[in-house]
Parts: sequence; C-alpha cells; structure tokens
Amino acid sequence: MRHITIVKPEPASFALGILKKNTAQLPTPSTQKWYSVSMKIIIANWKSNKSITEAQEWLATFARTAAQIDPQTTVVLAPPMPLVAWLSEQLKVLDLRNLQLGVQDLSPFPAGSYTGATSSKNLEALGVQWAILGHSERRRYFHETYQEVANKVDQALSAGITPIVCVDQPDIAQQMVAIEESNWMECVVAYEPLAAIGSGFEEPAGEVAIVVKGIEEQYHPQAIIYGGSVSASNIKGYLEVTQGALVATHSLEAGDFSSLLLVAN
Ligand code: PGA
Repeated sequence: MRHITIVKPEPASFALGILKKNTAQLPTPSTQKWYSVSMKIIIANWKSNKSITEAQEWLATFARTAAQIDPQTTVVLAPPMPLVAWLSEQLKVLDLRNLQLGVQDLSPFPAGSYTGATSSKNLEALGVQWAILGHSERRRYFHETYQEVANKVDQALSAGITPIVCVDQPDIAQQMVAIEESNWMECVVAYEPLAAIGSGFEEPAGEVAIVVKGIEEQYHPQAIIYGGSVSASNIKGYLEVTQGALVATHSLEAGDFSSLLLVAN
C-alpha cells in the first residue's frame, strides 16, 4: 500500500487562492481556452436515489433523445451501488451510444476479506469504467481521509477504472496528493465548490476558469470537469472553461438531464 505524505503547500507553489482574489486576471471564458474541448464528459451522479423501477423509467425516457447527443460527449451514469449490476445488463441491451457505467465510490482495498466492501475487481467485471472518488459528501459524512482516497484511486487504476477525483478549495493541493504524479494523465479531476453543491448557487464560470487553469497547469490531468448546481441553463458557460460536468440534482429526472445534454451539444 502506498503511504501518502500531506504537506501543506506554500501559497507560491499552489497559487489558486491568490489568483482567485485577483479578479483582474479573470480569463474571458469563450475566448481563452487552454486545452482541446472537442471531447466532453458529463456524469449523472444519482447519489443514493432511485429504485430499479425508477431507474427503468429514467432509462426509457432517456433513450428517446439519446441519439441526438453529441457523439463527442461521453455520458456516465453513476447509480447507487445496488443498481450497478442491473444497469450493466440494461446498458448492454439498450446499446445507447456513449452511455457508460460509473460508480460513486469503491473499496480502498483489493478483493479479499473486507466485509461490506465493493472492490474494483467486482466492478470491473460489471463493465464499470469510471469511479467518482473523494466526493465532498464522502469526506464529510463518511470521514474519508486523503490516504483512503489515494488507496481508492490506486485500486480503481489497477482495474482499468478511471478515477474522477473530486476537489474543492482550499484543500486542492492536499486532495490531489491522492493521485501519484505518474498517474495524473489517467485521472479526471472534478472541481466542486462546496457552496455550489445541491444549493442552486452558481459559481461564476470566470471563477471556475481560474481554478481549472491552476489545476491544469500544475497537474495536467486527462480532463478537468466542474460540478455544483449544473443545469441546462448554465452548462454552456461551464463547458467554455472545463471539459465536462458532474451533475446530481439535474440528473435525477431523465427529461431534465436530456435537456442539459442537448444544450451541451
Ligand atoms: P448538484 O450536486 O448537481 O446537486 O449540485 C453535484 C455533486 O454533488 O456532484
């Protein structure tokens, strides 16, 4: 097991806080891009919502407009764990282009004698391709530590599952230690300001752009996405400054989520 060391960063070595205060440096989202935006990833995080019946209705509604989604967009469904095996079968039958399976967590340990855990090997066998890791709700309610998130990232990668590591201010540097430098390119980072999660508060895209740029310059992950009250009415702005979105509230109704995806086209 890899043991991480958390070193409080010097402001100069990770200057997001400083940059954020200097509004004169705000990039104009639509003109200043620092990466290719041809590919997008949009994730539906259902959290602990939905029965199989509700998920079935969701899929039926979603399937009606799925063909209109931009083929460059990867859509990931991250259901509660009890639905993963069922959904894995459903996705094979429905064969919805670009709709892939994700989870909201996985075990920090390998397969073995860890009662109650779901290992990355269990999930790999079900065709899970993505794992949301270190979400602020897991850090807050389940007391997940930096070390545990690091172990989960390693477990995910060992099974070919792409980690989507959630970070927020002011702990981004400590949270990013979860990813070994040699694995930065294998991971997606989701910037999720706490105040914006489930609140309806819209973090201005210009502010998001500054944080995303800081992460991009320091860590060069595969992609950086944004999460926090993303909806059909604001996703366009966020996609100007990131490569995708992590959506919870507005993913729960299939019609609502489909509208968001079509706006994002
Ligand atoms: P929200 O949640 O879309 O409801 O704000 C985002 C998240 O928790 O990932």
